[in-house]
Amino acid sequence: MPAAVRSRSNLRSALDKRLSGASHLRVVPQPHVARPAPFLKWVGGKGKLLPSLRPLMPEGKFRYAEPFLGGGAVFFDLRAEDRLEHALLCDVGRDLVGACRVVRDQLPDLLTRLHAHEAHYLGENEENRALYFYAVRNRHPADFPMDDVERAARMLFLNRTCFNGLWRENRAGRFNAPHGRYANPGIVQSDKLHAASIALQGVDIRQADFRALPELVQEQKIEFVYLDPPYHPLSTTSSFNAYSGGQFSGKAQGELADVCRRLDRQGVRFLLSNSDCGYVRELYRGFEVGTIRAARSINCKAESRGDIDEVVVRNYSN
Ligand SMILES: C[S@@+](CC[C@H](N)C(=O)[O-])C[C@H]1O[C@@H](n2cnc3c(N)ncnc32)[C@H](O)[C@@H]1O
Repeated sequence: MPAAVRSRSNLRSALDKRLSGASHLRVVPQPHVARPAPFLKWVGGKGKLLPSLRPLMPEGKFRYAEPFLGGGAVFFDLRAEDRLEHALLCDVGRDLVGACRVVRDQLPDLLTRLHAHEAHYLGENEENRALYFYAVRNRHPADFPMDDVERAARMLFLNRTCFNGLWRENRAGRFNAPHGRYANPGIVQSDKLHAASIALQGVDIRQADFRALPELVQEQKIEFVYLDPPYHPLSTTSSFNAYSGGQFSGKAQGELADVCRRLDRQGVRFLLSNSDCGYVRELYRGFEVGTIRAARSINCKAESRGDIDEVVVRNYSN
């Protein structure tokens, strides 16, 4: 089992020691560490919903799991508030999980590779930037073996330079979002990555399907789980939910509700968010179901973008 999550100041000095021991650093020492926050742009990220979600969380400190990590907005917020005794973070996305681990364990090397991408990209005109983007996108790790750091740098570079920061994979698990044409995409976010790396020290990060959650929760004595699955679509054209090689089906939503019932029987508190529709409400009948207001931006029809209610389900009350 991984070591318990250490306090922020301990983490910072541990990381500083590790960083100062490396000879090939391109990390500039930070005068202060920024509040940790997601270092990836992530569709469905909960950053803007934190003010509505915070009051719904259990009070005090807890052993925490987040099985649909994405950009990790809720994890980073709880970590910044020093609420976590221990943290287990999972997602099915191979590149996402790999990038989080590299940010945790190999930040100096990652920054070096990101600087190289940045130098190539920013030194080109618009047309050649697009060519560089597609060259990196087409160099898929399945065909071109690459180490974890190179793979993570590829993901972060594509995430910053693609259209809308959309990490979307086709059925074969290949990232396929188009080039974004941003004048200054911020490819190397040293401060953000440094803060995230510190926040991730001692955290267990796994590539896992949500169906593995009950066993992991039991093994690691988890007390509170926040679940943010891909939204159940409100219509056939709404709600992007193809993060990792395929849609998150209605059947998967049903299996997730079974997992939540199992957590409940295990005596573990859970908070889940999803789109507000009859199907989701029906799946969680018997639990406390409320709504919060969410801005939805990934929608096929521009006119149907905008604020919308999101359902929140809990098996406890404060
Ligand atoms: C709505 S996003 C989570 C966003 C996150 N809360 C944030 O603030 O950025 C849903 C995540 O679930 C992941 N996912 C999809 N299917 C999954 C599965 N079967 N098991 C675990 N994770 C899955 C996706 O890769 C995606 O990162």
